[in-house]
Amino acid sequence: PTKIIFDTDPGVDDAMALLFIEAAPALDLVGITTVFGNGGVETTTRNALYLKHRFGLAAPVAKGADRPLSGLEVADAGHVHGENGLGGVVIPPAIPGELDPRPAHRFIIDTVRAHPGEITLLAVGRMTNLALALREDPEIASLVERVVIMGGAFGFAGHSGNVTPVAEANIAGDPQAADEIFGAAWEVVVIGLDVTQETLMTTAYLAALRDEGGEAGRFIWEISRFYEAFYRDATGAEGVFGHDFSAAAYIVAPQLFALRGGPIRVVTEGIAEGQTIQQSELRKFAPNAWSGRPSHRIATAVDAERSLALFRDTI
Ligand code: BDR
Ligand code: CA
Repeated sequence: PTKIIFDTDPGVDDAMALLFIEAAPALDLVGITTVFGNGGVETTTRNALYLKHRFGLAAPVAKGADRPLSGLEVADAGHVHGENGLGGVVIPPAIPGELDPRPAHRFIIDTVRAHPGEITLLAVGRMTNLALALREDPEIASLVERVVIMGGAFGFAGHSGNVTPVAEANIAGDPQAADEIFGAAWEVVVIGLDVTQETLMTTAYLAALRDEGGEAGRFIWEISRFYEAFYRDATGAEGVFGHDFSAAAYIVAPQLFALRGGPIRVVTEGIAEGQTIQQSELRKFAPNAWSGRPSHRIATAVDAERSLALFRDTI
């Protein structure tokens, strides 16, 4: 199985992805690292510990960054994921179990160095922890198997942004960190809104999970009630987007995704702050801000039906 460090900000769709990773035989979860995003880092870390305890996960949890590199204000996502980050589902105040003593970026460095060539970093929140790890130990770029992220939007199928018309939340929350990740010479695969917003978990789909998916299925139903209402109001969608799980699905079933290669930049200031732009490899341009940057692949399309079936069957 592929060894995974799951860098996450649980978060309703993060929790769904975590349960999927734990259940997927092709994936071996070796660590969970937390970051601010869908809540403050105290909240997302508490939620990660809760999920570990409730679902008996063996992987350690290491707490990460509480703010972006860029010094931006931390935006509140309570209107999307609920004030407690898990759709208001009640979580006991005291959760048994201890955190790993290391900060997340140090945990990442140590684990990558302990398993050279074997670790996939699966990052589905702000990319701050990964950027801190890379700044502290740039050699990890050549020691990871690869990096798979949920983030960004590139205009395929009309998908361009969810916090502004051009910016996706994980990138907008720390554009500087994301630009550093895309600037490094490791293999990065980017699963953005272009495919995650095509992967709609309808109310009927979630109800079937509740009825047939055991404890995990029931839990997914409960935490998604608030999230579903938000998306209905914000986008008119009849269900919730499978953002974070889609990045995990890519690792298990890459054949379900179409990809395009080329260097990627993130807009780090101005009204388009947080926008992700890939220069296609298939065209020649004059020297520009993309020149000399490594090529990474972005997902441009997904077989959503199969991806959703994979999630359902795995849960
Ligand atoms: C991303 O933002 C967060 O709210 C979700 O968990 C997901 O990672 C979607 O834009
Ligand atoms: Ca997330």
